[in-house]
Amino acid sequence: MTIVNGYEQSDREQKLDILNLPSLENAAKKIIPAGGFGYISGGSEDNWTLGANTSAFNHAQIVPKALSNIENPDTSTSIFGIDLKTPVMMAPAAAQGLAHSRGEVSTAEGVAAAGALMAQSTYSSTSIAATAAAAGGAPQFFQLYMSKDWDFNYALLDEAKKAGVKAIILTVDATVDGYRESDIINDFQFPIPMANLQKFAEGDGKGKGIGEIYASAAQKINEDDVRRIAEYTKLPVIVKGIQSPEDALRAIGAGAAGIYVSNHGGRQLNGGPASFDVLPAIAKAVNKRVPIIFDSGVRRGSHVFKALAAGADLVAFARPAIYGLALGGSQGVQSVFEHITHELTITMQLAGTKTIADVKQAPLTHFNY
Ligand code: FNR
Ligand code: LAC
Repeated sequence: MTIVNGYEQSDREQKLDILNLPSLENAAKKIIPAGGFGYISGGSEDNWTLGANTSAFNHAQIVPKALSNIENPDTSTSIFGIDLKTPVMMAPAAAQGLAHSRGEVSTAEGVAAAGALMAQSTYSSTSIAATAAAAGGAPQFFQLYMSKDWDFNYALLDEAKKAGVKAIILTVDATVDGYRESDIINDFQFPIPMANLQKFAEGDGKGKGIGEIYASAAQKINEDDVRRIAEYTKLPVIVKGIQSPEDALRAIGAGAAGIYVSNHGGRQLNGGPASFDVLPAIAKAVNKRVPIIFDSGVRRGSHVFKALAAGADLVAFARPAIYGLALGGSQGVQSVFEHITHELTITMQLAGTKTIADVKQAPLTHFNY
């Protein structure tokens, strides 16, 4: 255990013997301090959308396929020419130092060891360069929280490009913080600094709540910002937080090279739909013009399968990986990705789908909302 500013950080480093991802939450609750756990696990208001995200996967069923003559399903896939061992990726998640003393450096090691892709957050506990270096050449995206100060934005983007990230994720669903009741109850302020704020901005986030940090970010974001980031970085820009076909088409019209369907894991607009419920209509509108990343509520291999079959190209999560980080460090994160990929392999075999391309063509039935 490491103690920083009175906050106890896990130092664990071990492989995990995982029954299922949902069970990790209670196990992690026992070692992550209450304020940090509330920030990680919590949604907004009464957590309705948070809960709907996972239960929504029951709205569609996978059609089992017999006599398919397949064995050893192949979970490999690619995005933007980047080869991956699994279609599951690490969503951008701030302040992973709340779960482990090595923070995103350990997450990057574990995600890389699993052959997966990681997105690192603007509000990461470890620097862009250190988090990228820890991946040892494995692919990463950088998620930008746009600041009102474009000098800060450009400094972050320059550092991300220098670190070799392959794409920029622009998060657009968090222009203010959702009503995070866990943080209010716990009077939660970040006990540890955010490395990128330390380096490029006034104040490092320590002693602030997420609301104060968001307040210094940009509230007015529009299509011109997508173009500006794409032109400046010459990297693919993926717009994260899309929950309607209209927004997806506006983002593509502004030059987005990818659409990230997400409701921020139910942490932002409570009372919005489950992210899985809006995926099919968005995928139909996007019509394969750009890749789609999907997240919010993914906890099972069958959830990954359903999201791919409903139109996603990659499927992300945050909380299960953060719990794995607390419970086992980089090996814990690797265990989480390997477990859900194992569950996906079973689902693929029983659905008669040999490859991820086959999964993307697989029928889903009984879409009932
Ligand atoms: C997040 N998320 C997030 N998203 C983002 O674009 N930038 C960020 O810095 C963060 N930070 C963050 C911290 C924590 C603790 C959580 C739980 C989530 C949202 C994240 O990328 C993703 O959209 C959701 O977490 C997906 O839902 P699940 O899988 O965590 O339930
Ligand atoms: C959150 C921000 C950091 O969800 O994205 O807490």
